[in-house]
Amino acid sequence: MISFTLNGKTVHAEQDETLFDIAQREGLSLPHLCSGYHTHNKADGNCRLCVVEVEGERTLSASCKRTVHDGMKVHTHSERVTKSRKMIMELLLADHPEHNQSPDPNAHFWQMADEVGIQTSRFSPRPTLEPDFTHPALAVNLNACIQCTNCIRACQDLQSNDVLGMFGRGARSTIAFDQNDPVFDSTCVACGECIQSCPTGALLPRDPQTGDAVTASNSLKRVDSLCPFCGVGC
Ligand code: FES
Repeated sequence: MISFTLNGKTVHAEQDETLFDIAQREGLSLPHLCSGYHTHNKADGNCRLCVVEVEGERTLSASCKRTVHDGMKVHTHSERVTKSRKMIMELLLADHPEHNQSPDPNAHFWQMADEVGIQTSRFSPRPTLEPDFTHPALAVNLNACIQCTNCIRACQDLQSNDVLGMFGRGARSTIAFDQNDPVFDSTCVACGECIQSCPTGALLPRDPQTGDAVTASNSLKRVDSLCPFCGVGC
């Protein structure tokens, strides 16, 4: 067992536990997008929204990847952390349409924006991309993609489909189905695992009757179930 302080409180934890998990156990809410949203996905540490400050360290750490050691002093909501999170959220918002144009205004992404207290960005958006509605089961709007890569890890690690990956470079890089093919022409089997793991609404299911994208606000309400989240979409 390891002993360290979290916001001044002494906490005990296993050596391989992450600060994100420990903070949650201690009842602290840390904003997050690329980990902890789809609980079956492995942490990736790429959105940086969950950063925390470890006393004596020059850089902030992504809590979803950072494990603990004896005697460390961690701050989850210091002034430095709060300021950095706001900047990170602003950069992420530049990769997303404004709230009233968002494919899913109730998405986890906007809940995190609320939590951080930033709703708009002063930074220029990326080049606009055409939404892909070629597949009857999937609505793809990469203008709302923040490249958290949850969908890629879901496709590869959870379903072993390996359809999704990154395509292009720099500001023009996107997630892509196979060789950046339209979804309908790709080897995607529409299992739905990527949709489950997308925190922004860039990937949404489509209503089989109307063809409309189904968002958190217009979908059926959540119920308790024994479903293991295979993502088949029943
Ligand atoms: Fe930790 Fe994204 S949730 S870096």
